[in-house]
Amino acid sequence: MNRILITGGAGFIGSNFVHYMLQRFPEAQLVNLDALTYAGNLENLADIASDPRHRFVHGDIRDAALVNRLFDEFDFDTVVHFAAESHVDRSITEPELFLTTNVVGTQTLLEAAKRHWKIAPDDKYSREYRPGVRYLQVSTDEVYGALGREGKFTETTPISPNSPYSASKAGADLVVRAYHETFGLPVSITRCSNNYGPYQFPEKLIPLMIHNCQTDQPLPVYGDGMQIRDWLYVEDHCSAIATVLEKGRPGEVYNIGGNNEKANIEIVKLIIHSLGKSEDLIKYVKDRPGHDRRYAIDNGKITSELGWKPAYTFEDGMAKTIAWYMEHTEWMEHITSGAYQSYYQKMYG
Ligand SMILES: NC(=O)c1ccc[n+]([C@@H]2O[C@H](COP(=O)([O-])OP(=O)(O)OC[C@H]3O[C@@H](n4cnc5c(N)ncnc54)[C@H](O)[C@@H]3O)[C@@H](O)[C@H]2O)c1
Repeated sequence: MNRILITGGAGFIGSNFVHYMLQRFPEAQLVNLDALTYAGNLENLADIASDPRHRFVHGDIRDAALVNRLFDEFDFDTVVHFAAESHVDRSITEPELFLTTNVVGTQTLLEAAKRHWKIAPDDKYSREYRPGVRYLQVSTDEVYGALGREGKFTETTPISPNSPYSASKAGADLVVRAYHETFGLPVSITRCSNNYGPYQFPEKLIPLMIHNCQTDQPLPVYGDGMQIRDWLYVEDHCSAIATVLEKGRPGEVYNIGGNNEKANIEIVKLIIHSLGKSEDLIKYVKDRPGHDRRYAIDNGKITSELGWKPAYTFEDGMAKTIAWYMEHTEWMEHITSGAYQSYYQKMYG
């Protein structure tokens, strides 16, 4: 794992992963391909702008010519694919964009990896690849659909996505699996629960609530706020991905989660109390269509087989996260001006 293509590395988890890798693997050379959609933000990478181990490339994962050129130029041995349209609400208004980015974009990367890594690229029966290469698909627990009150998602839970977002991620996972089964490409798929931490775009629950609390604006809570998610501090997601790259068996799926099930309303109240504000700020709004009720991850496979475990408790992770947003008000102000305002009006009235 020396020459790594990271896609979507100007987004929330991708930029955290770039920072994590530069610290943990000082020898690694990173190429960061990102289209800088509304969710991509070069300010997330400002502190490493002059680091010679990180090269930012502005471009689209669906641009096969560009992706192949990058493989030729940098001779990657690893791909970590984060780039995606990632917000469920947006997938309800623009499903087509989710399918092209998340499914077609993934296939474009897989095809380039196959072409460059296969020892006999023109032999359709050959399944031999250069040693040490790996393609890692960053997926989500949302592909499994919703749970009732009991039970957890394991890697063998049937895929049953409910939103255009999760359907596009599930579709991408199946294409990754097919490249492994049909062509023998060494792949890994990770399916993580909800992340929180620095650099998250404030359309997502935790940064949205911190920002609105800080600025004394109403806190929009969908439905009764009792939707349960299993939360993981983003640095723990990054360490899990690095663990799968180092030790994961090719062709396997690994669930990633921290056993932190919380209802949305609990998180909103925790933020309100941490910032010393009043619960009167809460404003219940009409629930989103198809809103999954509960997700929970069984992380037994990655913990027992690969020896990974999260380093942060939910309380520590939330304290670090709230402190980060309080210290980075300028970062937030740059995002919450302009186009984001009209989006916010459309979604929450
Ligand atoms: N956020 C979570 O809680 C969570 C949980 C599990 C899995 N995931 C997965 O992790 C990945 C990253 O999620 P995130 O929350 O950081 O997303 P994000 O929306 O913050 O970032 C996505 C990045 O991808 C880039 N991008 C979008 N379309 C592109 C394209 N066509 N070509 C190149 N770049 C493009 C954007 O500019 C942005 O920088 C996604 O694949 C998501 O499905 C996220």
